Amino acid sequence: MSFRFIDFPSARDDFRADVLKGLAGYPKSIPPKYFYDEAGCRLFEAICQQPEYVLTRTETELMRDNMPEIAAAIGAVDCIVEPGAGDCSKVRLLIDALQPRDLVVMDIAGKALAVAANLLADMYPSLEVTALGMDFVHDLAAATPYLPEGRRLFYYPGSSVGNFSPEEATALLAQFRQLAGPDGRLLIGFDLKKNPVLLHQAYNDAAGVTAAFNLNLLTRLNRELDADFDLAQFSHYAFYNPTAGRIEMHLASLSAQTVYVAGSAFSFAPGETLHTENSYKYRGDEFSELAAAAGWRLAKHWEQGGFAVQLYQNRKS
Ligand code: AVI
Repeated sequence: MSFRFIDFPSARDDFRADVLKGLAGYPKSIPPKYFYDEAGCRLFEAICQQPEYVLTRTETELMRDNMPEIAAAIGAVDCIVEPGAGDCSKVRLLIDALQPRDLVVMDIAGKALAVAANLLADMYPSLEVTALGMDFVHDLAAATPYLPEGRRLFYYPGSSVGNFSPEEATALLAQFRQLAGPDGRLLIGFDLKKNPVLLHQAYNDAAGVTAAFNLNLLTRLNRELDADFDLAQFSHYAFYNPTAGRIEMHLASLSAQTVYVAGSAFSFAPGETLHTENSYKYRGDEFSELAAAAGWRLAKHWEQGGFAVQLYQNRKS
């Protein structure tokens, strides 16, 4: 078995600065990547089990049902690269089908990634596994020395791309293309535009798991940045914005209050919100246009149950 873990601690240093900057702006916001402390990772896994949040299950079914065709369309690859791999569960279907020599996984939640990637290395003794504990959005180029030679497939499932604005997503996909190389491929999953009522329910599950996930961000700020948020004074607020084509998640202040974070004071008016996440939904053609602006050429499109997976090749190949 071959396994290595490289940690990039700079991801942790940015946290304080990003939060203070986001709270000082109007509207107040915090980047969604900071949801994923240990409790946040567990809560996200629990969201994926909720009956209303079908996104992850639908993507897995799509991948299972179409894997022979997907694998044939991708062809032989030496290395699979998965940014934002989390618990490394999604990539297993691809490893089984493509049998690559190398796997490189990245995630800002480095500790959880290392545990999951180590287990994967145990399961696939002939696979060379590299885990990078890094904020790949901030500094993907830092991963370059750890990418093995050969034909690379970038895998970006789970509609993670939806958590970026279309402009940010284009920039990120352009970076993926650069690192994938001229012969590289991109397999990407995203949530499709659909009945807004269903989308609303997916981010307002009856068991309140999404609410707990959203509020956990404040618990994290209290613990890690010496903040004093009173969780009873904030409420989970998520809705579909049809003009922007996205779910917006906010934490709404239930009263006029002042909160201290890392020694700085921030005032909230009653009803003022802290914007914590966008989750963009696309039509297939909208998304391939975005990917084309990043230099990717659409090779194949699959869709099932309101979710799409697309395969791209580098326009230069
Ligand atoms: C990780 N990401 C794709 C999820 C989404 O649907 O935007 C995060 C999430 N937020 C609330 N529920 C799930």
